[in-house]
Amino acid sequence: MKHLLTLAVLFSTLLVTSCQSQETKSQSSEENKIDSLISLMTLEEKVNMIHAESSFASGGVPRLGIPHWIMSDGPHGVRKEHGIDYVPDEGVADSVTYLPVGVTLASTWNPDLGLAYGNVLGGEARARGKDVILGPGVNIIRTPLNGRNFEYMSEDPYLVSKMVVGYVKGVQQNDVSACVKHYAANNQETDRNTVNVEMSERALREIYLPGFKAAIQEGGANTLMGAYNKFRGQYCTHNDYLMNKVLKEEWAFNGTVMSDWGAVLNTKEAIFNGTDLEMGTDLALGPKPDYGKFYMGDTVVALVKADSVDEKIIDEKVRRILRIMYRTKMFSASRGTGSLNTAEHQATALKVAEEGIVLLKNDNILPLKRDAIKTIAVIGANGDHKHGGAGGSSQVNAKYEVTALAGIKKLAGDKIKVAYAPGYAIVKDGKSNSKLIAEAVKVAKAADVVIYAGGWIHGYSDAWNDNAFDSESVDKPNMNLPFGQDELIAAVIKANPKTVVVLNGGAATDMQAWGNDAKGIIQAWYAGMEGGTALAKIIFGEVNPSGKLPMTFPKKLQDSPAHAVGEYPGKDKVVHYNEGILVGYRYFDTKNIEPLFPFGYGLSYTTFEFSNLAVTKTEKGAAVKFTVKNTGSTAGAEVAQLYVKDEESSVERPAKELKGFSKVFLQPGESKEVELTLGEEAFQFYDEAKKQWVTEPGKFSILVGSSSRDVKLTGDVTL
Ligand code: BGC
Repeated sequence: MKHLLTLAVLFSTLLVTSCQSQETKSQSSEENKIDSLISLMTLEEKVNMIHAESSFASGGVPRLGIPHWIMSDGPHGVRKEHGIDYVPDEGVADSVTYLPVGVTLASTWNPDLGLAYGNVLGGEARARGKDVILGPGVNIIRTPLNGRNFEYMSEDPYLVSKMVVGYVKGVQQNDVSACVKHYAANNQETDRNTVNVEMSERALREIYLPGFKAAIQEGGANTLMGAYNKFRGQYCTHNDYLMNKVLKEEWAFNGTVMSDWGAVLNTKEAIFNGTDLEMGTDLALGPKPDYGKFYMGDTVVALVKADSVDEKIIDEKVRRILRIMYRTKMFSASRGTGSLNTAEHQATALKVAEEGIVLLKNDNILPLKRDAIKTIAVIGANGDHKHGGAGGSSQVNAKYEVTALAGIKKLAGDKIKVAYAPGYAIVKDGKSNSKLIAEAVKVAKAADVVIYAGGWIHGYSDAWNDNAFDSESVDKPNMNLPFGQDELIAAVIKANPKTVVVLNGGAATDMQAWGNDAKGIIQAWYAGMEGGTALAKIIFGEVNPSGKLPMTFPKKLQDSPAHAVGEYPGKDKVVHYNEGILVGYRYFDTKNIEPLFPFGYGLSYTTFEFSNLAVTKTEKGAAVKFTVKNTGSTAGAEVAQLYVKDEESSVERPAKELKGFSKVFLQPGESKEVELTLGEEAFQFYDEAKKQWVTEPGKFSILVGSSSRDVKLTGDVTL
């Protein structure tokens, strides 16, 4: 009876509070409610909440009104619907806004777009009835070969940190949780389930963790996903150091740690080392698995009953889940309802694509002048290929997807003829095809200009298991274009030198076979449902490109650090990150290796001038001011980048490190003063002996420019 009474009181409290705004309630009263709820739960009910109950949901407690927790990938659109057995549901209304992928977002160098992007994702997740969206992906791009680079953001921890905060906030403004993944050191797909990553503490702190820390501490991410791989010998998802010591103790994370799907492999480690929720669909357990057989299922009940595990530990996991349920208003009538496939969402997808596509080379060929052109040849099967449906867990059912060919045709209008030849076939193990090349050459020759639309793909079809190149669970075999495209591009350029090469892809491509001869090169990444529109607008000059590379494009694979030190993909399932902190441009610039296109690089149709650098010492750092002027005749945006170089240091420091940037939008002739503040963290390194960040006194150079290798202004500050 007493029990029933408590229940009634609790429900009336829930009902009353549901009418109030969540923000106005004090945290402690929420924690009290959580405690009351937990006190009413049986051990079995608690355990039911800490493991999956279907492909994308964890268990609830219906008796107490605690719902399932419903999740979806992530990271660039709400994923297709999946049933209990992980197989996509047929015939359901799950089409969504397909946003440009993570590297495209990062290439905008525009944190405001991070927020807008997150908002689309969060709103659509809500509208699809999801509670958690499994993104952003913030793993560092360590090698051009990682199959999931496209889902991530950058080789640079500062850029990742700045872009991820808006993303997380945007998602969570919609009463949906973001899930930052994959924590940590999941930088390759080869052997991802078994590989053990060894790296210095300094590399961990300076390179691999800042993106996660920013997502948690600045973005306020409600949930985090542990990675599949091992770190220092222990699986990341139940890694005591990563989860307990760093995440929960040092960073004071009070949200939920969930496993990657099927990443829990040991009950006791998961229980004691910080995993709060075991997700996955273990198909080995049959088409309709018994989720009680999960590592964090019945075994846990038995361990608690045998007094081997204190029930308080389970309570704490449940508490973390309930806390996030409250935070996302899951018990409140005022929870947001989101919206799906709105014109506004599509406009955000377009904007991110417009600002994220990077112009790499332009020998006076772009933008195309409509009056001077009668025929455009679009060559390359990617031109007519849709990308959104493939790539592994990030696949989405796009409401629509404008291909490069469709975008160009639309903007070309009636007066310009657009001819198309695929040049290669998108098929498994596809090689160069002389018939298709001959046909492409013919079409190219007859045109005034060629837009080569090629590059990489995610998969041959939408099926999960035909992952091809930029895809989950496989890495690329090398940096060379698939389907014999090098041969094709060379033949096309020979037939018509007025060729612009446009590449899809999540990372760098080896361009040695044709890079010098192409008049124009555009890195189009995977630019979402409006990717073809954005590309065409750039090609015809309706949009002035402003994207900048978030990663170094090496001339050849062997130049990039992980490969140069011989530590990819590791030996005997161990990979030692011996390049240490010298990841990306930190390596190229410190070791004086010339890249093909440097980090931070990207061209515009206008020109910018940097002037008036003033560096003033502040209490703990420096205030930096300078002027950027648009000296051309087209409106455009420059990403002004600030790098710090430590001139006197007791430890090795990279030649420069990005510590500030600002995207400046300028009309022709307009100039703006940019102000960037450098706090003490901009000058620090992680001292392994002291186990803390330290600032060493001395001189620091302040380098301001338009890429990591195009420094326009230099100043200094002595701390
Ligand atoms: C991926 C995660 C994804 C999860 C759920 C895993 O295979 O690594 O990124 O969120 O599946 O689909």
